Amino acid sequence: MTFVRNQWYVAAYSHEIGQDLFARTILSEPLVFFRSEAGAVVALADRCVHRRYPLSESRREGDTIVCGYHGFTYDTTGTCVSVPGQTRIPRTARVASYPVVERDSFVWVWIGDRDRADESLIPRAPWLTDPAYTTVCGMEPLAARYELLVDNLLDLSHETYLHGGYIGSPEVAGTPITTEVDEDKKIIYVSRHMADAACPPFYANSTGIQGRIVRWQDIEYHPPCLYLLHSRVAPVGVLPNEDGSDPDGFHVEVVYAITPETEHSTHDFWAVARDFALEDQEVSDFLRESNRTVVLQDVTALDILEQVIQAEPEGYQELSINIDTGGLAARRILAKMAAGTPAEAQV
Ligand code: FES
Ligand SMILES: [Fe+2]
Repeated sequence: MTFVRNQWYVAAYSHEIGQDLFARTILSEPLVFFRSEAGAVVALADRCVHRRYPLSESRREGDTIVCGYHGFTYDTTGTCVSVPGQTRIPRTARVASYPVVERDSFVWVWIGDRDRADESLIPRAPWLTDPAYTTVCGMEPLAARYELLVDNLLDLSHETYLHGGYIGSPEVAGTPITTEVDEDKKIIYVSRHMADAACPPFYANSTGIQGRIVRWQDIEYHPPCLYLLHSRVAPVGVLPNEDGSDPDGFHVEVVYAITPETEHSTHDFWAVARDFALEDQEVSDFLRESNRTVVLQDVTALDILEQVIQAEPEGYQELSINIDTGGLAARRILAKMAAGTPAEAQV
């Protein structure tokens, strides 16, 4: 297990957190979230310091949470401000509070040492709030360790087999990839550029392109949490202009936030942002349904793999080939990050 602490993780979409108490477990830490009366998102440990009752099962009173069991009352910093039956409040009566930042439609939470929480470390997904794009999104619970989702997303050859009829076509598995690793910034790039490929329904129905396409998949994985797939499709032969402008290409930014829930389960956040058919509700509905279907195909497969892994004897050896280069690089960097040593110092 390679939990990476001292990192920002996506806890929720901003729209998920309102006045109500909202529970979500991240890296096996149960958290409770709510929006203060001033509108700021608050994250506290979801366990009353008294007898462990979940604060998420309790109630708010203004900007405090009153424990639903015996009434210990906590402010937005997690400090207990009232206990029942006595005026003296024990000095240790507080629950942990977690740094939170709202950015790019996500609520990011820092899991680790508070004083190391640096907002500038949060990787960006600006398309999700850019008016030049229209976004559909969701989150599916995955009953599998997050490393299986990382493997899955870094090797898109599986689209041909697991997602045939949705986003897969024979050319995806048939086209070699290039992989680059920026060890300093800890970013993994995997690219697959198809010059002449079948147009799968996901793109045919959303772009209206008839016939074959140029299809580029440029992955950018910021371990541990954020995965970006820059996808470009256009009719065969249509390439960006020399100055980089690309008025005839269709661009889809597929964003995943991979947030471990426990050692064997994951929050699988997904979003699809497009720069075409911006106002077209039918296209939005189609892409939301299609992508959710595709994500659920992955969820089904990875849930099975989790069971397989849990049942197997120690020491099973996988066999890796060229398509696994990105996934193997990700595993290596995650292992180093989990060990708490900068990747570049462990080469
Ligand atoms: S468990 Fe919360 S007040 Fe007792
Ligand atoms: Fe997939």
